[in-house]
Amino acid sequence: MKILITGGAGFIGSHVVRLFLNKYPDYEIFNLDALTYAGNLENLKDIESKENYTFLKADINNIEEVEDLFEKYNFSKVIHLAAESHVDRSISDPLVFVKTNVIGTMNLMNAALKNWKGNFQDKLFYHISTDEVYGTLGETGLFTETTAYDPNSPYSASKASSDHFVRAYGETYGLPYVISNCSNNYGPNQFPEKLIPLFINNIVNNKSLPVYGDGKYTRDWLFVKDHAEAIDLAFHCGENNETYNIGGFNEWQNIDLIHLLCKIMDKKLDRNNGDSAKLITYVKDRPGHDKRYAIDAGKINKELGWKPSVTFEEGLEKTIDWYLNNKGWLKNVTNGAYKDYYQKQYKR
Ligand code: NAD
Ligand code: DAU
Repeated sequence: MKILITGGAGFIGSHVVRLFLNKYPDYEIFNLDALTYAGNLENLKDIESKENYTFLKADINNIEEVEDLFEKYNFSKVIHLAAESHVDRSISDPLVFVKTNVIGTMNLMNAALKNWKGNFQDKLFYHISTDEVYGTLGETGLFTETTAYDPNSPYSASKASSDHFVRAYGETYGLPYVISNCSNNYGPNQFPEKLIPLFINNIVNNKSLPVYGDGKYTRDWLFVKDHAEAIDLAFHCGENNETYNIGGFNEWQNIDLIHLLCKIMDKKLDRNNGDSAKLITYVKDRPGHDKRYAIDAGKINKELGWKPSVTFEEGLEKTIDWYLNNKGWLKNVTNGAYKDYYQKQYKR
């Protein structure tokens, strides 16, 4: 089986590539990635010499490039993770989210349709999406697969749009697809613009911890390797043209999570209990900030038998240890371009 994985040099993609390479030595895995600021081949150092692995530096916004690769390699299945993924960046530069997340996804589907020529046997377009497409919840309730789409940020609007196009391609052209919508991931290799790795890095460097608004926003956190396992299961056992919600059954208000993180970091760094929490600084809220996300992952649990295997305490500890043991990785990704981003985003 020749599988095209897009965005495999990014955070979640690198865990999916590694899982598939190690678990399925008979599959040929092709990792297509443009290596934007978020893509990093260091994430895949341990597996890059495997015989069944090929890295393809390409941009999904370039249709000719994508079509040529389909023609050359005849991929039979696609797992599509490449995207612009950070909400704050989508607020300052929405257009690139439309280009990559919407048009890039359509380019991939168009290239697949052209190459598959109406023969859909053993073909699949698996689109990785987010719970943010459902908008925001009040204090109760959960997102299910039938919750109406109601995106609030340019990022979530672009992901919602791409989900709609994937479904429409299924209905209109018969493209066999699976979509999964997952909650917030955390774990090794996440770019330090997202809450958990940003705050770990800032604590290490004794920099302030910028909490948006009142900090009482709620997210449902899932360890990245559990997401990769869910993707493996939905890819192999999911029904064509179905959607699966994936979540951690693990809701935290930001401020509570941040206090837990500070407490563990104080221990790891041999600091006095309470030292890291002194870095907490409340800052201006994110515009259009969604109050609460929470996933009902009952469908994938009942139909495919998936559930998270890593508790939040274990996952957080593993994540912190990874960042503390990989300071070189952090240093490399927080270079000049990151400093510019940080200045603009946090005005300090
Ligand atoms: P990421 O930003 O860490 O990685 C994205 C990858 O896509 C990078 O390697 C980047 O180089 C690549 N890429 C970007 N633009 C490209 C282009 N034009 N052509 C080719 N490659 C390009 O993202 P992530 O957090 O790993 O998210 C992966 C996917 O999962 C995204 O589709 C995201 O919407 C979805 N998702 C993420 C989360 C989360 O919590 N991080 C949760 C649910 C769903
Ligand atoms: O829910 C899935 C989504 O989770 C994914 O689709 C996105 O790709 C991913 O980025 C993530 O989106 P969030 O906006 O929820 O994640 P982020 O880490 O940016 O923020 C988590 C919460 O922390 C959110 O309520 C905003 C808050 N926050 C974030 C940052 C970066 C802060 O208070 N301060 C910060 O500096």
